Amino acid sequence: MLSEPPYGNGYELTRELKAESVKKSRIIGVGHYVPENIVTNADLEKVMNTTNEWIVERTGIEERRWFDPEKDTVSNMATKACKMALERAKLDVKEIDFIVFATITPDYFFPGAGVLLQRELGLQGIGALDIRNACSGFIYALSIADQFIKTGMYKNILVVGSEIQSSALDKSDEGRSSSVIFADGAGAAVLQATDEDRGVLSTHLHADGDFAEDLYVRDPGSSRKTRLSKELLDGKTFNLTMNGNTVFKHAVVRFSEVINEALEQNGYTKEDIDLLIPHQANLRISNFVQKQFKLPDEKVFNNIMHYGNTTAASIPIAMSEAWEKGKIKEGDLICLAAFGSGFTWASSLIRW
Ligand code: COA
Repeated sequence: MLSEPPYGNGYELTRELKAESVKKSRIIGVGHYVPENIVTNADLEKVMNTTNEWIVERTGIEERRWFDPEKDTVSNMATKACKMALERAKLDVKEIDFIVFATITPDYFFPGAGVLLQRELGLQGIGALDIRNACSGFIYALSIADQFIKTGMYKNILVVGSEIQSSALDKSDEGRSSSVIFADGAGAAVLQATDEDRGVLSTHLHADGDFAEDLYVRDPGSSRKTRLSKELLDGKTFNLTMNGNTVFKHAVVRFSEVINEALEQNGYTKEDIDLLIPHQANLRISNFVQKQFKLPDEKVFNNIMHYGNTTAASIPIAMSEAWEKGKIKEGDLICLAAFGSGFTWASSLIRW
């Protein structure tokens, strides 16, 4: 027979004491920045064999922002989003203890974008962590920041998603099914430790690497003799490649699963959700999920029509816009959910 663990009640007691002092993390400010350059479906009709009707019907996208190489970088867009979030949080930038930066399109191959943002914000010395979980990246980043706050290690954390996808899109007819979807932008949230019983209630992270190549950019990869070669440059492996049908089928299942997981863990039902903010992958996917959960239009926030799919930036951009429009109020139960390359999928429930 197995003996009782030696720590027995002592362990329980320590756990209870710890639970009392455990902080929650609250989002106290959200911000976003999108490039000024608007690319409409009519603009795309001029460079590839596509139509406004096809794009709107299959994706819901009417226009998107593509960066201006003279002005925009992944880190400077993130800086602008962070400054807006800090201003709304009424927090001095010097109060920030740590940065968690989600992007799969960093300015450099290395170092990551986190240190560039840190430098632009004048926060040299604090830690900066980079997250590469694609469309689920912001929720992965939020989860990590939440754990650091719960353990008491940090008080104020910037959580950021920023992406430039347009420079890796194949804008020829061959790449049209994905190049009409992906776009550029940045969003940020300031997370702060609180003793109040609200904030991030839980986060749920998942991945299945069996599908890594169903949505990916292969090059420049490191596991070959040279990272760059004439043959590689002549090919299409630097472009984003997506198996759209597989992505769609998995996305609708995983979105539902991970939203249910968050609700169940916290003892809520779908009726308790005040606002669902899905990763803006494709309006058809969002609508499908909305239908499954029988949520009315006012309880689901979509802005993909104007921004396309901005990968890790899509949720914080949507959160920032929803807040601006008064769709997120104190005390609301907000559900974030994402699915993307990896495959990865994730959710979070937040009592605002
Ligand atoms: N304009 C016009 N026609 C296009 C096109 C475009 N931009 N892209 C593809 N087509 C054509 C195809 O060539 C195909 O033509 P064919 O029947 O003559 O061969 C036809 O449209 C249907 O293509 P298919 O790829 O089967 O379309 P689909 O209905 O699956 O829609 C996606 C394609 C990409 C919109 C869809 O698969 C999807 O939404 N997938 C999920 C993508 C996603 O959310 N990604 C982000 C995840 S984070």
